[in-house]
Formats: sequence, structure tokens, C-alpha cells
Amino acid sequence: MSVATESTESLKQRRAALDYLMMNYAMSGTQAPESEAKEFAAIQDELARREREGTIAPGEGSRDDRPRSWTSWLGLTIGEYRLVNLISDGNTALVMRGEKTVAGHPEATTAKFFKIARDQAVSDSKGPITANKRSVFATQSLHVAPFQLSTVIPNCDEVMLIQAERLLQAKNAGGVMVSVEESSTFEGREYYRMPELPGEPLRKIITEAEDRLPTLASRLFLALNLLETLHRLQTGLADASGEHDYHGDIKPDNIMIDGQQITLIDPGYFGTLLCQQGEVPFCMISTPLYYPLLEADDKLAAGFMMWELIAGVHPLAPGDRPKDKNAKKICYEIGASLQDLINFRSSLLQPYLMPLLEFETAESCNPDITPPLADWLLRCIGLQRGADGRLEIKERFVDFAEMASALSELGLI
Ligand SMILES: Nc1ncnc2c1ncn2[C@@H]1O[C@H](COP(=O)(O)OP(=O)(O)OP(=O)(O)O)[C@@H](O)[C@H]1O
Ligand SMILES: [Mg+2]
Repeated sequence: MSVATESTESLKQRRAALDYLMMNYAMSGTQAPESEAKEFAAIQDELARREREGTIAPGEGSRDDRPRSWTSWLGLTIGEYRLVNLISDGNTALVMRGEKTVAGHPEATTAKFFKIARDQAVSDSKGPITANKRSVFATQSLHVAPFQLSTVIPNCDEVMLIQAERLLQAKNAGGVMVSVEESSTFEGREYYRMPELPGEPLRKIITEAEDRLPTLASRLFLALNLLETLHRLQTGLADASGEHDYHGDIKPDNIMIDGQQITLIDPGYFGTLLCQQGEVPFCMISTPLYYPLLEADDKLAAGFMMWELIAGVHPLAPGDRPKDKNAKKICYEIGASLQDLINFRSSLLQPYLMPLLEFETAESCNPDITPPLADWLLRCIGLQRGADGRLEIKERFVDFAEMASALSELGLI
């Protein structure tokens, strides 16, 4: 039976079944077969057509009032771009690939990426906030106030608007942030359109570092390129004289790499935010693992990223260390100043620094690391080894340029 003659009820039932199936594919990390994606898109189109023509009531063709899943967007057309693929299903937004085709000229197909607000934010706010949850790797929305750190459920449209505005503001910031080509609403949701960036996220390269970055020099070369790029961003943002002179969510997942070309996506936010419970005076939309002081400090975030890239570990996610049975685990001993900082932060209910109590030396994570390089890594996250060998707080580098030049001066690349 063709979809055009099928009853609306039957189309909706089929869509619900396909929706369930495709969700399962997505959750297991596999791509749905093309035939099913096509069938789904055809049903979507037909229901949308019936809505437009008034055969069914507006809204009847959309799913019920549960938050829509990504599959509801498949096959819909924003401007001239038909949404064909899910790229990422985040807490506040979906990233989808849209294609513009020219009939009879498949070679003329062009693609754009659309970041679309979810109907409702996904929250994993159950239970107390701990630094060890897997979710600390994901961007979170937190209400930050002394003694009452809590997760909030942000208004996703507001988050998308803020993000689009921040990206537009950063337009001239060294050409480092992805450009927003359009920001508008579609099907009641805020979205923005970006070019499709070539390459891959830095996270993927770091995960495959053993093969992709087999030598210390190759890791350091990329580290230097990242720091130089971040320096351009920092000076660009300072010149843009906008309200927010930070990226705010620097982490390997938000950095796209294509050879030497580095582009940042997905900025974070620190400020007032509209949430489910109303306007919250100070929120952070960012990743505590990279911003553990809950401040918009991009340099510190980059410091943690340098550890991941060069030493292969994130100091605040010790469980994440690549398994090497032969490696001997040697932890830093903690000095008074660092212990005080950890205690102070914990007393404010900010537990993110606790893992430093069991933090392995850079050399034990990667034996290629020389003592001066280990010192540089520590300084990137505001630490140093004191005269007694214990870890103490140290003034951080003033900017990315200083971080980069201190790395170059080690003479390892
Ligand atoms: N313009 C783009 N070109 C290529 N890939 C992109 C682009 N935008 C996003 N991606 C891919 O999609 C992933 C997710 O995008 P993004 O970081 O913007 O959203 P998110 O982190 O899932 O959302 P949330 O803000 O809800 O956490 C990126 O890690 C990247 O792999
Ligand atoms: Mg992201």
C-alpha cells in the first residue's frame, strides 16, 4: 500500500514502530538501515502533507505531546535542506545533517549541519552530584551558588539562542569558531545552521592516540597547534568586545580537527539562565571535568586537555586511564596548599577536585614524558612539585601564548 492511501491512524502506528526501532539502533550505536530511514521519512512527509492540506488537524501529524525524539525530525525540510541523519543526540540539542539535492544531479548535493533545541532537556540529576559519574564527561547545566550546587533543567530554546548568539559574536575571533549561517525557529524549536566541518573530533584522535599519535613529538606538535589556535581565539574574543570573552566548554569533543585546521564548536555559557524552575541567577553550561572550579577559565580546561593528549589521562577522571597491565601506578603526594583547596571546594559542595588525591604522575602514565615536560603539564593545571616533592598550587600561565612558548622552549619539537 502506498503511504498516500494509507489511513492517518495506520501511518501513525507505523511511525511509532519505526521510531522505536530506530531509537534502538541509535542506542546500540548502529546506523538504521537506509530502507527503514526512507520509510520513516516517507511517512513523515505524508503526515506533514496532510497537515498542510488541512486533511488532518494541525499538530495531529506530529507525535503526541511527549517530547519528540530525533526520529521526528528525519525527512523534514528546513529551508531547502532535508534532514537526513542524526549526528549527535545531546542533552539540550540534536545535531542533524541536512542535504540539498538537485533533481537529476546527485553530484550537486550539498550538506549543512543543523543544531536543533530538544523539546525538553535530558537531565541526569538523580542522586547527588559526584565527580565520578560517567556523565561528568558530558556538558551539564548547573546552578552554581556556595553550598548549593545543583543540576538545573534549562530551557533548550534559550540555550540554542545563547549558543547561536555567542557563535555570531565570535565570528571574527580569529576564524576559529564554527560559523553560524542562520539562526531561526522551525517546528516551534530554535535552531542554527552551520557548515559541515571536515575532519573529526579531537576526542576520536585522542582515543586512537596509540595509532594516530604514536610518538611524543606528534602529540606535542598537535598540542602546540591547539594552543596557538586557542590564543587566536582568546585575542579575537577580547577584541570582539562582547559580553563573554570565553569559549566556556573547551574539551576534545568540541574541537574539530582536519589536518592542521582546528575549529571549535559548541560554546558553553556562564550567567543568568531561563530554566524549568524560572530564571536562575548563575548557571554554568559546561563540563565540570574541564571547568572544575566552576569558572569560565578556558586555560585550565585546555590544561586538562593537554594531559589527555600528552599523558593519555584526565587527572580528574583517574578511572579512565588506558589499561596497561605492566604500568606501575605512581601517585603524586599532595601538599598543604592543594589539600586546602580541595577541602575548601568540597566544603562548598564542589567535589570535582577530589580525584586529585589519587592523581598519577605524568611520567607513570607515559614514560616518554621528560621531567621538564611533566612540570609544564602540572603548570598547565596550576600545580607544581614543591621542594619536598609534594604537589602544591602554582600560579597558572597568564595566557595561551605563554603556555605555547613554554612548551616550545622545552625543545622537544
Ligand atoms: N558543523 C559541524 N560539522 C561537523 N560535525 C559537527 C558539527 N557540529 C557538530 N558536529 C558533531 O556533532 C557532535 C555534537 O555537536 P555539539 O558538540 O555541538 O553538540 P552536543 O555536545 O551534542 O550538544 P549539547 O550542547 O546538548 O551537549 C560534535 O562532537 C561533532 O562530532
Ligand atoms: Mg559538544
